[in-house]
Amino acid sequence: MGSTWDTPRTAVVTGGARGIGRAIAVALAQAGASVVVIDRDEGACVELAREIGPTAGFCAADMASVPDIERAIDAAAAMFGSLDILVNNVGILSTTALADLSEQEWDLVMSVNLKSAAFATKYAVPFMERRGWGRVVNVASMAGRMGGVSTGCAYSASKAAILGLTKCLALRLASANITVNAVAPGPTNTDMFAGFTPEQIRNFERTIPLGRIGRPENIADTVVFLASDSASFMTGATIDVNGGLYTGS
Ligand SMILES: NC(=O)c1ccc[n+]([C@@H]2O[C@H](COP(=O)([O-])OP(=O)(O)OC[C@H]3O[C@@H](n4cnc5c(N)ncnc54)[C@H](O)[C@@H]3O)[C@@H](O)[C@H]2O)c1
Repeated sequence: MGSTWDTPRTAVVTGGARGIGRAIAVALAQAGASVVVIDRDEGACVELAREIGPTAGFCAADMASVPDIERAIDAAAAMFGSLDILVNNVGILSTTALADLSEQEWDLVMSVNLKSAAFATKYAVPFMERRGWGRVVNVASMAGRMGGVSTGCAYSASKAAILGLTKCLALRLASANITVNAVAPGPTNTDMFAGFTPEQIRNFERTIPLGRIGRPENIADTVVFLASDSASFMTGATIDVNGGLYTGS
């Protein structure tokens, strides 16, 4: 593989201040992209931007709010003068069983995990069209592929819907030379995973063929590939990164 991009590229990572998104932002910056993180945690954004240096920026926003998404995408594109790569990473976990699920929780999970990806893409696409090149990478989940080991139905449904969104937008945006792909992580060591007890984590690890839960960097490496020039002939695809826990159907 040669250099990641033959033209300087700017990437936006939603929910990029912590966890998998943070690792994606760092990996994209290491690969040579300018990176703008959109996240509601402004303190963590400041810290990350300081760590990456002058090729990083951030925009504080609530990705559950469509007006906030539009404002943040416009601000991100203005920061380095273009927007070529969008990583729809933001997500919240819900383990609530259907019997206990409220309408508010369903709506919040769908807003953060699904609606944010559709609308961030909507507002980012015109910037990609202007340059005749674009990459959208959606962070789904193994839960969307096979129903979820311990996740609730709102989370699993939001992640299954992300895969449908990925395929639909891949078909609609191909003529603009914009690819749309997804990564489906299995259990990965972030704050989202911190709710599980050490015993639950050991149980997970016993069932994972490669013998451990994922590191955020494992997901980030796959995202960088899908965002690179090397992935130019892939669109509408989902890559499973889960240590062999789910091998697809
Ligand atoms: N960690 C796992 O085991 C795992 C497994 C499969 C898929 N995923 C997916 O990976 C993605 C990242 O997960 P993670 O584990 O890094 O999560 P995390 O909780 O560690 O980080 C999520 C980030 O999103 C931000 N965020 C949350 N809600 C927001 C909102 N409304 N507006 C703006 N920012 C918001 C948080 O501030 C945080 O920086 C999610 O889409 C998640 O569903 C995670």
